[in-house]
Amino acid sequence: MEILGIDIGGSGIKGAIVNTKTGEYVTERHRIETPQPATPEVIAETLAKIVKHFNYNGKIGCGFPAVIQNGVIKTASNIDKSCIGVNANKLFSQHTGCDVKVYNDADVAGFAELKFGKVKAFKGLALFLTIGTGIGSALFYNGKLIPNSEFGHVYMHNKLIAEHFASDAVRKKEDLKWKVWGKRFNQYLKQLEKILSPELIILGGGTSKKFDKFSEQLTIKTPVEPAQLLNHAGIIGAALLA
Ligand code: BGC
Repeated sequence: MEILGIDIGGSGIKGAIVNTKTGEYVTERHRIETPQPATPEVIAETLAKIVKHFNYNGKIGCGFPAVIQNGVIKTASNIDKSCIGVNANKLFSQHTGCDVKVYNDADVAGFAELKFGKVKAFKGLALFLTIGTGIGSALFYNGKLIPNSEFGHVYMHNKLIAEHFASDAVRKKEDLKWKVWGKRFNQYLKQLEKILSPELIILGGGTSKKFDKFSEQLTIKTPVEPAQLLNHAGIIGAALLA
């Protein structure tokens, strides 16, 4: 089947048509800057532009950077607060004329890894993290997704929220050297190791491409690996879940 997968992010909204059997793109990826303020209506209009670009008519899967229950947006840490309470499935379907299903962005990316990447054959408890503007998480037990885990919001020192301490946005904002940031990120992973005892941690998002720059700083016992699908996982997973 060929399905349009869309990854909605704070800076860009990206889509491609995906072959759900092979997990490969059948079109080029199309990206539109996320208009600001990114209210639900503005996002819905941008999705409609992506649909028009591909001249597409069919099911659509979307990754969205928030807790999503039955298509309803429940949180807004890095997005416009007006998103909270909106039924995104309904709104995006109305604007695009297609059947749209929305899920948490990290769950979607982790799901793609589960199907086509490293979590595929993994039995036990695996934690997938996306490191970007925020930190997203997806939890898998014996290959099954436990949705909306939000481990980017655990407390670090002095009640500092983890994604305000160790995200890629913080690394850039504070101009941290990879080694310095790597040590911070390791402290965060230590915290997660204590709470969850995962058997494998997979790092996704743009930062996973730079894994070699900070991997030496990761001293936790749990094996940590970069994701295989890199930043295509958001689009591929969204198409698969639709
Ligand atoms: C949000 C998560 C999201 C993550 C990555 C966090 O701020 O709370 O829902 O998965 O950012 O985008």
